[in-house]
Amino acid sequence: MPMEVRVVRDATALADAAAAFVADGIREDPDQTILAATGETPMGTYARLADLVRRGEVDASRVRIAQLDEYVGLSAGDRRSLIGWTRRAVLEPLGIEDERTIRLDGQAADLDAACRAYEAAVAEGGGIGLALLGLGPNGHVGFNEPPSPADAPTRAIALTPESISSNARYWGSVDDVPRRALTAGMATILAARRVLLVASGPHKRTIVSRLLDSPPDPWLPASHLHAHPAATLLVDDAAMPGSRN
Ligand code: GLP
Repeated sequence: MPMEVRVVRDATALADAAAAFVADGIREDPDQTILAATGETPMGTYARLADLVRRGEVDASRVRIAQLDEYVGLSAGDRRSLIGWTRRAVLEPLGIEDERTIRLDGQAADLDAACRAYEAAVAEGGGIGLALLGLGPNGHVGFNEPPSPADAPTRAIALTPESISSNARYWGSVDDVPRRALTAGMATILAARRVLLVASGPHKRTIVSRLLDSPPDPWLPASHLHAHPAATLLVDDAAMPGSRN
């Protein structure tokens, strides 16, 4: 069964809908592990969730946050690390203690061991309850770059030129972007009990169109979600092929 598709008016409506989806999930299971994407798209969602937390409408303090991806080889405390971004955008605003994160350690001397430790920690926490994902311009989720099979484990990968150029805005120039990253594996993502994939804006329309037309295909890693029993694609009008904007 293909993914459920929900189309909302604009980025604000997307943030509201995604925050409501995540908040409902937390109320149902306050101790679950959430795989939380960085990137621009879910930032409004975290901000809306933080509003709900401030108003006492949801308590996220018992949730565990699993990192979705991380660059390899940054120095400790580099603000551009994805754990730093996760702290600023997710943990602090939602009132989740740092110790409740399952980290992908891109500074580890043994990256394979760091990936195994991550998977063991996810399993120990009962697996992923909800994966909140963004969609890369080449169809990646996390940094599962094409080609990524459905059983791809958590691992170190070489970033594709497309991902390097789309992330260059965070680094000053293409040359400054790290060449390698760790990513939660496609298998870990697909084992999540629920998945919410968010895409917003006209620059996502081409990849959303490819995704909607594609059967599960390692060359478009997000398309594996069509085979997931509870995956939702939430897009705004601007990202939806064939919409009027
Ligand atoms: C990045 C990250 C992903 C992110 C995706 C989309 O390269 N590795 O975790 O979800 O691309 O990012 P954005 O939401 O900024 O479009």
